[in-house]
Amino acid sequence: MIQRLLTDTYPAAGAGPMVQVRKLSKHFGRVQALRELTFELRRGEVLGFLGPNGAGKTTTLRLLTGYLRPTSGQALVAGYDVHEQSLEVRRQLGVVSEDTPLSPEMTPLEHLQFVAELRRIDPRAREQRIGDAVEVCGLFDVLTRATGELSKGLRQRVGLALALLHDPAILLLDEPTSGLDPNQIRELRELIRAIGRHKTVILSTHVLSEVQATCSRVLIISDGEIVADGEPHALAAQHAGASYQLLVEGGHEDGAAIVAALRGLPGVEQVALAPLVGAGAMPPRGAVSVSVRALPDRTDLRRELFCCARDHGWVLLELHRPPATLEDVFRRLTAD
Ligand SMILES: Nc1ncnc2c1ncn2[C@@H]1O[C@H](COP(=O)(O)OP(=O)(O)OP(=O)(O)O)[C@@H](O)[C@H]1O
Ligand SMILES: [Mg+2]
Repeated sequence: MIQRLLTDTYPAAGAGPMVQVRKLSKHFGRVQALRELTFELRRGEVLGFLGPNGAGKTTTLRLLTGYLRPTSGQALVAGYDVHEQSLEVRRQLGVVSEDTPLSPEMTPLEHLQFVAELRRIDPRAREQRIGDAVEVCGLFDVLTRATGELSKGLRQRVGLALALLHDPAILLLDEPTSGLDPNQIRELRELIRAIGRHKTVILSTHVLSEVQATCSRVLIISDGEIVADGEPHALAAQHAGASYQLLVEGGHEDGAAIVAALRGLPGVEQVALAPLVGAGAMPPRGAVSVSVRALPDRTDLRRELFCCARDHGWVLLELHRPPATLEDVFRRLTAD
């Protein structure tokens, strides 16, 4: 069933990029929301679109839908110019925003029928399409309840069903899981992941674990400009700088002296004492736990750390390198 609704849609315009954003700028009065944003999205990519509040994510998505006009630059969707060919663009896009506007007294079924009409879906295919959207989004049990009575997670699934109804090639999701509880977030994430196997998706979100779990690529913007673009794990390795956890017996040197010595090593960006909890079995008395962060271009400091311990006569009980996370990348690239 999912297969039928979620066809691997080929745009009429051919096999070129599904989204092309070229030097897109947007001013609101004196506020410059976007500065010459440029990126492309290939067919089948699931893009995590990240950035702090006010970075320009919603503005970018609204420029792609044609809801806003750019101050300068151009956006193409499936090869169609957003302003010159807005009807074609609307055909290619499905949009879900943070809070899908739904009429509380209408049922999900009525919403679906209404949008099918609005989208001019062939009446002979309508019932089938609606049935498919209902199945994909798991709405069967709530079809005839008033939408206002549904949980926020269910309402977001109704929004997703509406966005999928015309089988668009590209889905734009602007913080679809905002305000949902962890279970609803997981459900919606699974759904987006399933949909992402068949469609090109831009997912704007603040939930970084969601991106790590769902997206094949990450674009981070800050202050209207792209600050990172790549595959999640590659970005973490490239930008976050490796971090190390050490458990050290310093002998006659205390925690402060250990930290000071480690700070002096080349390639070290930051050193901090870490709480001993979670450091494995009860650590020996006098042992200190230290976290060390390397500069981004220094990928391996293990040898330096070992030699430092040896030269100071410390006993190095543990040395390990937890993988960098998107959160590290995000913090580093978007902090003021
Ligand atoms: N209609 C508008 N009028 C004036 N300023 C606007 C308008 N829309 C957005 N802005 C400004 O443009 C900038 C980018 O806003 P945008 O909503 O795109 O950010 P965002 O990345 O979506 O943030 P959030 O994570 O909070 O949703 C902000 O400075 C915002 O105040
Ligand atoms: Mg926003």
